[in-house]
Amino acid sequence: MKLGSLELASPFILSPLESVSDAAFRRLCWSLGAGFTWTEMIRARGLVRNNKSTIDLIDSFDADVPTGVQLMVANEKELEEALAKLDALAATTHPHFKNLRAVDLNFGCPSPEVIKVGAGPALLKRHHKLKAIFQVLRAWKQRTALPIGAVTAKVRLGLNRAEMDQKVILPIVDLANELLDGLTVHARHAREESTTPAHWEAIAEAKQRATVPVIGNGDVVSADSARKLMQETGCDAVMIARGAIRSPWLFRELTGRGPGQPTLAELEAAEAEWTRRATELQSKPKYFEWHREGFRRIRARLSGQAVSGTGLPANEHMR
Ligand SMILES: Cc1cc2nc3c(=O)[nH]c(=O)nc-3n(C[C@H](O)[C@H](O)[C@H](O)COP(=O)(O)O)c2cc1C
Repeated sequence: MKLGSLELASPFILSPLESVSDAAFRRLCWSLGAGFTWTEMIRARGLVRNNKSTIDLIDSFDADVPTGVQLMVANEKELEEALAKLDALAATTHPHFKNLRAVDLNFGCPSPEVIKVGAGPALLKRHHKLKAIFQVLRAWKQRTALPIGAVTAKVRLGLNRAEMDQKVILPIVDLANELLDGLTVHARHAREESTTPAHWEAIAEAKQRATVPVIGNGDVVSADSARKLMQETGCDAVMIARGAIRSPWLFRELTGRGPGQPTLAELEAAEAEWTRRATELQSKPKYFEWHREGFRRIRARLSGQAVSGTGLPANEHMR
């Protein structure tokens, strides 16, 4: 599957995942079959303000793991400045930024703090503004020294039910056709909880209108559900979040290389390798907290113990 000039080894993409997607986890998912991976959402404003903890989240240390950075922007000026900052950091203090292969823009984060500043899904119906933002991204892709193969956006279906019913994303598909290399559709509006079934029919509608690849997202938890999503919507690739958190081996199942759950020995080897890599790369404590708990839960399931709840710490994205 091709995304811009990137040739993806599989059409199964690891979602941008706040507090989850550090370099060591991305390597694990990639080694199991993920065709592309994303950093967690990076606030463009933090980057522009030289906020060290924001910059540290762009941990693209692995040249061989195809990775893009996802940015959250409120407007085109902020994006322009953030991209200039990326160029400057890549040229000087952060040579590993040169491993970034793609940039995605987040128009899906339902956090009130994001919506309040007019970013994320608040922009979905502002098509002129979006066009200006996409134009900045496109122009940057053409001039940057970074090896960026694709620029994309990830959208929800609207800020709320009314916007979803108005199909605000269809004009965005047209903009993506003109200015981007692909569009990810998370098939829920921003007020919907992750327990609401994703509206896959909206992915099909986007795909019918798209000339660029459409990446379908929402509720893929198995090879069967991935196949069903691709068949029902015609989407070109699938983005996976909670399924990959529950078991990164889902990528192995999706790519037909083996079962979606590890053996105990595989789990232990993966956890040891994740810990080694994360320690070496000085992953943030939040990633250690998350993955220690994640591996513990997989182990409990493998041992036949009941695992309560979703296994996911509270996170606004999951609403
Ligand atoms: C823990 C967690 C963190 C997330 N962080 C992000 C993020 O940084 N950027 C983003 O676009 N989506 C984020 N999401 C949303 C997912 O990328 C995805 O769109 C959503 O979970 C639906 O996919 P799924 O059904 O495969 O989980 C996050 C989801 C979860 C569960």
